[in-house]
Amino acid sequence: MSLQERVIHEFESRFDDSPALLVRAPGRVNLIGEHTDYNDGFVLPMAIDRAVWIAARPRRDRWVTCHSLDFDRPADFSLEQIEHGAGWGEYVRGVAWGLQEAGYRLLGWEGVVGGNVPVGAGLSSSAALEMATARVFAATSDLPWQPLAMARIGQRAENEWVGVSCGIMDQTISAAGVTGHALLIDCRSLETQAVPLPSETVVVVLDTSTRRGLVDSAYNQRRRECEAAARFFGVPALRDVSMARFQSQADGLDETTRRRARHVVTENLRTLEAAHAMRQGDAVRLGQLMDESHTSLRDDFEVSSDALDSIVLCARQQPACYGARMTGAGFGGCAVALVHTAAAPAFAKAVTDCYGKQTGLTPRVYICTATDGAEIVPPSLPSH
Ligand code: GLA
Repeated sequence: MSLQERVIHEFESRFDDSPALLVRAPGRVNLIGEHTDYNDGFVLPMAIDRAVWIAARPRRDRWVTCHSLDFDRPADFSLEQIEHGAGWGEYVRGVAWGLQEAGYRLLGWEGVVGGNVPVGAGLSSSAALEMATARVFAATSDLPWQPLAMARIGQRAENEWVGVSCGIMDQTISAAGVTGHALLIDCRSLETQAVPLPSETVVVVLDTSTRRGLVDSAYNQRRRECEAAARFFGVPALRDVSMARFQSQADGLDETTRRRARHVVTENLRTLEAAHAMRQGDAVRLGQLMDESHTSLRDDFEVSSDALDSIVLCARQQPACYGARMTGAGFGGCAVALVHTAAAPAFAKAVTDCYGKQTGLTPRVYICTATDGAEIVPPSLPSH
């Protein structure tokens, strides 16, 4: 049974009725533009074919109950007074809180959620849950579905309700992804441009199977370092520092802050060039830029890890690989590779062998397609 069928099936057995609504919101992988979103810069992620699904029906009152396929405890709360709880339900409550803070009048609903975005791997399972929740509220409370506004509310929920610092990238791509395309996002204006994937190429996610507990504190530290660098240059964000300005003034920065800033300034340029290469169908150039991004993240921003470096090298050794880099916040989690389509299964096997030999670990490999962002799926599925 597919995941959406399982979600529908569980809904039917709990509520003895078919769902009125089925929504899907995807996870994401970032092709390039890492640690640039909170510097008001550019990112180039794509929504992937792994997602969070919710089957739901509206309620007449202001109560929300959402059961999970994977966890025992449902998210169960009144919209009159939302109180903090624990676990995955915090994302549902946080989005409800964020929508009400934004002035929307919400009605309750009940449903079932399930997902196949690996949790904690850096593929934005939380943003997917947030945007699926927002999509359900929009439908059941009759709100206009404005993907970018909803992304901002999801980010606020994560920052202020869940208490995790993150930029705007993950929610934006989960809300606004486009099939067959990556999205160039200007994280200051939230202007987006859909950029097609080069023909005959496929995006492969390589999960190192390593997780680091200290990602949050290291992430916040990098943010502070970037803010310090922006203050030094007298600009609102590192986005506003050109390469020429960086080169002429960066000597006044301490060594660490200078390297952090150099990553952000060069990564913004690489991201814009990567979007250009994609429009030209130039997979070779796109791959080179991904390689350069990894070097910069490893040496200047210092957010890679031995496992990530190892899997990236294994990927690059394969002739079918155009380029590879770590993706997401770093320290563990996933790398992303651009690979010739026909050779992708052989590539997956070769990287698994190479990485296994080097580390003793078994990676997970996902050959991904680029999908649409959060959407209502017509309930035309066989529900048995
Ligand atoms: C995490 C955050 C994003 C972004 C990336 C790094 O995924 O949630 O907002 O900052 O790290 O590019």
